[in-house]
Amino acid sequence: MRTIVITGGTDGMGAALARHYLAAGHRVVVIGRSSAKFAALVARRHPAAPDRAEFIAADLSLVADNRRVVEHLRENYKRIDALVLAASFIRQRRHMTPEGHEASWSLFFLGKYLFVTRLAGLLRASDSPVVVNFAVPGTRPDAIDLDDLEMLDGFTFKRSNAQQRRANELLGILATEQNPDLGYITWGPDRLVRSSFAGEVGLGMKAAAAVLAPLLGRSPDDAVRPIVDIIDTPTPGRASYRGAAARPLTAGTHDEEDAVRLASAVEKIL
Ligand SMILES: NC(=O)c1ccc[n+]([C@@H]2O[C@H](COP(=O)([O-])OP(=O)(O)OC[C@H]3O[C@@H](n4cnc5c(N)ncnc54)[C@H](OP(=O)(O)O)[C@@H]3O)[C@@H](O)[C@H]2O)c1
Repeated sequence: MRTIVITGGTDGMGAALARHYLAAGHRVVVIGRSSAKFAALVARRHPAAPDRAEFIAADLSLVADNRRVVEHLRENYKRIDALVLAASFIRQRRHMTPEGHEASWSLFFLGKYLFVTRLAGLLRASDSPVVVNFAVPGTRPDAIDLDDLEMLDGFTFKRSNAQQRRANELLGILATEQNPDLGYITWGPDRLVRSSFAGEVGLGMKAAAAVLAPLLGRSPDDAVRPIVDIIDTPTPGRASYRGAAARPLTAGTHDEEDAVRLASAVEKIL
């Protein structure tokens, strides 16, 4: 029995993966905000699974909640085989958390950084550990401003989205350097998925999601099939995928240096 930890496992693609691995007989830890969604997931689909399923309620846009979850996992689990980072709340505008961090940066990067770095020991305890980070690959190497990570200057949704995606690629460099046996995958779907699209977005994006997703989107269960293959047959090292198709890793001229600068900047504020 493997242990699969899924942030954002209460809805959308994270929930599809939770359902799959519970049905396959594995231990699944789901992190999200809604205990009602988790209860429905376990009760309706897998009445026999409660002893293999744990829910940890957390607001992962808060550094303190990320720390609490990481501590809980370190105290209660001996090993993590797959860490899936799928929590998502789309904000088109800059928003500050009560801790004073830009909310999207905190949810889509600071929290993920804590999970990947502070759970490295539990991942190392697995024979074939893998991190699947829902961070759509394919940003430019210079999509990150290492001197303004919280984007005090000139926030746009596009910039913020590209920056967190690039940061999550750089995080893969740090993680695989520390553990060469680790598979670290940045992944995005190859087309729209009919998920909950959790977020605070403008009318345009809301309408697009409401109209286009039912028409053109695929189901979360269908969308995560390539991820199941990646988790079930992991390969050490970094890789990027859109759906089932491997994509080239973004290569800049000083990626290692950028990764070290990013880690140093983040460690100062965590
Ligand atoms: N859907 C698409 O077409 C699409 C396209 C490109 C990329 N993606 C990416 O794929 C990933 C999964 O997206 P999805 O669309 O399947 O997700 P989704 O249906 O929008 O679900 C979001 C999940 O994140 C959790 N979540 C949101 N805010 C949270 C917070 N502050 N703390 C903890 N958990 C939180 C939600 O939990 P609760 O409901 O329990 O709060 C839920 O489980 C995301 O990274 C998304 O950006 C999706």
